[in-house]
Amino acid sequence: MANVVVVGAQWGDEGKGKIVDWLSERADVIARFQGGHNAGHTLVIGEKVFKLSLLPSGIVRDGKLAVIGNGVVLDPWSLFAEIDKLTAQGVNISADRLMIAENTPLILPLHQDLDKLREEAAGKAKIGTTGRGIGPAYEDKVGRRTIRVADLADEETLDARLDRLLAHHDALRKGLGAEPINRAELKAKLLEVAPQLLPYARPVWKIMAEARKSGKRILFEGAQGSLLDIDFGTYPYVTSSTTMSGAAASGTGMGPGAVDFVLGIVKAYTTRVGEGPFPTELDDDDGQRLGERGHEFGTVTGRKRRCGWFDAVLVRQTCAISGVNGIALTKLDVLDGFDKLKICVGYEIDGVTYDYLPTAAALQARVKPIYEEMDGWHESTAGARSWADLPAAAIKYVRRVEELIDCPVAMLSTSPERDDTILVTDPFAD
Ligand code: GDP
Ligand code: IMO
Ligand code: MG
Repeated sequence: MANVVVVGAQWGDEGKGKIVDWLSERADVIARFQGGHNAGHTLVIGEKVFKLSLLPSGIVRDGKLAVIGNGVVLDPWSLFAEIDKLTAQGVNISADRLMIAENTPLILPLHQDLDKLREEAAGKAKIGTTGRGIGPAYEDKVGRRTIRVADLADEETLDARLDRLLAHHDALRKGLGAEPINRAELKAKLLEVAPQLLPYARPVWKIMAEARKSGKRILFEGAQGSLLDIDFGTYPYVTSSTTMSGAAASGTGMGPGAVDFVLGIVKAYTTRVGEGPFPTELDDDDGQRLGERGHEFGTVTGRKRRCGWFDAVLVRQTCAISGVNGIALTKLDVLDGFDKLKICVGYEIDGVTYDYLPTAAALQARVKPIYEEMDGWHESTAGARSWADLPAAAIKYVRRVEELIDCPVAMLSTSPERDDTILVTDPFAD
């Protein structure tokens, strides 16, 4: 049976949630493997709109197993707020269909404090984070001083973990001019949430191994995007996890052979939230128009997303790094009505042409996009459900994207609605 990984191939918000929701009809298990509640995945199903941050998008379909893997950083209070919100929307969430890896590190209020303190202290050099404590939580995981889900089951362990964690954080906070942590209050909060969280705690690696052995189909749901990857993104303007497909295996406890198909989610133009380089960013009417037609406001923070033309150089690069087998091209409808469309096909830096984005920040700052211009289309593609419904100029645009990124289109999306989706190649096909 084929297992599929969905990853964002740009700077996030490519439409991963919509595509994962659509594909999850064909899957048995849907697993998150990195990131945390910095993600905002929107699903539109008829009259209903679901906004998910931490829960795998498959949770909205009955009968599917939703898994949060060890690669995620989990804020228990945010998780339960999200569960309450979805329960009120009629989704059934219980411990027999939501499983959380026992070795998942927790995001605590002190991580959110630190995220905000650092951003404030950085002033103009800020990253523009979501303020959810993601970076500090991953730092503590790698620093071997985090509290993990399983630690909540035993007070003695929790005490020892708290000692180690607070020794570090109190020193840091002192340097940033913040009060020390109220240990008793934090411990009480953790002991209070423990009986709520622990029923979901499982050896997820084992559940995944059993699922695989019994031929279940697994859909891995990436968060963020490849250009926000801690290693390959536009560092330091990135998130703190590996957002590439390889993280699906290590972030749930499986071997690399568990992945059969990597589906890259690609927006038909480019957006970015937060600071950092963005070669094809538009400050003109075209950028304004993309933002308005695409409703480009962040799901998590409500911030306006920066918009620009499609950058084929970056997507070719991220498809290569994530081993993308096919892409889902989303928001094609947002391009309806432009007379001309531009695609970035290369960069010029100090008179030298590049076919990739160099790592050096000083070079990135001087990148000038080289554009190819294409005819737009005035017909509507919104809601198209087959190739035959697309105007010739739109098909030409899609074909040119495929050529430039060196990767075929497996799916197309033409509106936020679940069923306004065109399947070209089934990622789950064996
Ligand atoms: P994610 O973070 O990758 O899941 O993406 P978000 O949900 O943050 O942002 C994508 C937005 O575009 C959401 O509001 C979706 O409902 C919407 N969307 C997804 N696919 C399409 C599409 O093909 N056309 C249009 N117009 N909107 C889409
Ligand atoms: P989804 O899954 C878009 C961005 C933030 C900031 C940087 C670091 O919805 O695509 P962090 O809080 O992670 O330390 O912020 O990463 N960012 C996202 N941008 N979509 C996301 O998730 C993002 N998650 C984080 O804006 O620039
Ligand atoms: Mg999003």
